[in-house]
Amino acid sequence: MVEDKAKVSNKINSTPPSTPYMSVGALSRRSGIAVSAIHYYEREGLLRATRNSANHRRYNRASLRILAIIKAGQRAGLPLSEIRTALGPALSGDPLGREEWRRISEGWRDDLDQRIETLKRVRDRLSICIRCGCLSHELCRMFNPEDAAAAEGPGAPGLEADLPPRPDAAAPSHS
Ligand code: FES
Repeated sequence: MVEDKAKVSNKINSTPPSTPYMSVGALSRRSGIAVSAIHYYEREGLLRATRNSANHRRYNRASLRILAIIKAGQRAGLPLSEIRTALGPALSGDPLGREEWRRISEGWRDDLDQRIETLKRVRDRLSICIRCGCLSHELCRMFNPEDAAAAEGPGAPGLEADLPPRPDAAAPSHS
């Protein structure tokens, strides 16, 4: 076990931190992201590689930060297009300073806050009728009788509209 950990550690550290450029293999090992995914991000314009004298791709170490942010963004459910837009100047391939990263972070804040609010709303309303037309919830007869909400247009007005949850939503069903 200890030996295994040492092997992994040696692999990860196979590119010394003082080396400014990394091969795709080293980048993959350090970031934990598959080589195929790295090439995909590169094709999508999220990473930039230079070529060494042997015409092999080389990535600067700032690519690790980009990959970490892409991974976190995807885990949070952000589409790649939005991650690309948010990263903006970071995609030039040049390392950015703290102030530039602060500006990128600010640009992302509104969108993330909005997503957090949406997820909280979904979480809070999962146990009530959201008037989506399914009529499968025990409270639908009370909150959406005969799918009356269909008259308001498509969608689930109880979820999509910025309405506070009904205070009586947790009341036991009369079904
Ligand atoms: S939850 Fe779908 S109509 Fe009530």
